[in-house]
Amino acid sequence: MKSIILIAPPSAGKGTISKMLCEKYHLPHISTGDLLRSAVENDDEQGNYIKQQMNLGKLVSDDIIISLVEKRILDNDCANGYILDGFPRNLTQLKKYESFLINENKDLGVNILLDISYEQAKGRILGRVSCPKCGTVYNIYTSDARPKVFGICDKCGSDLIRRSDDTEEVFKERYATYLNETKPVADYFKSQNRLHVVDSSIEISKVFEQIERILEKEND
Ligand code: AP5
Repeated sequence: MKSIILIAPPSAGKGTISKMLCEKYHLPHISTGDLLRSAVENDDEQGNYIKQQMNLGKLVSDDIIISLVEKRILDNDCANGYILDGFPRNLTQLKKYESFLINENKDLGVNILLDISYEQAKGRILGRVSCPKCGTVYNIYTSDARPKVFGICDKCGSDLIRRSDDTEEVFKERYATYLNETKPVADYFKSQNRLHVVDSSIEISKVFEQIERILEKEND
């Protein structure tokens, strides 16, 4: 199976769709946001720097991210493909990643943009809660993403939490970072005819169906 890159503005649904793809296609999910949130827990100098950048809605340095991602992709469970959620996030990361793939003799994969308006993405952020243990993402305002019991993860029973960067103010910065840094990555794939655009403003199952169709064709 080809690897998948999900590109999107903040809170467009990358994490939600990644979990569904993992379950259906048994691919490992590499979320740079999750890798960084784990690094923050170390509470050392690097962890504090990462926390500060995330809470400002700014990108963490390319060197930290690229080494985390490349190391993870070389793990055995990624040999038959993986899902990249949140990477590459700028043109430097993209160039390094593509050189890495060429050196490792790996396929360039399938690039999918989850398309959503600013207002809709902002609305989603305010209702998001997630499980710190298994990573499942919920939304208290969305009927098909609400936990069965308020505040408790359906999958593992842990207490759900809100992310510290899920405020309106930080969202604005994250969105600006997306436009300035990450949208050029999507534009690059588009210029090479290697971008699939999916409407992410509709209900989750319908977003997923669009992606299933793309993957069927790409893996034919
Ligand atoms: P990251 O964790 O990647 O945050 P993000 O890109 O802002 O994306 P989110 O996790 O907020 O949203 P999502 O698209 O996964 O949406 P979700 O599925 O949760 O990065 C955080 C920070 O880390 C960055 O700001 C940066 O500082 C740093 N970082 C990360 N990667 C980096 C990199 N490569 N380089 C440098 N720095 C990096 O969905 C959102 C909500 O909507 C949920 O509540 C969900 O239930 C709901 N929802 C989802 N889909 C639907 C739907 N179709 N209908 C209704 N509700 C829906």
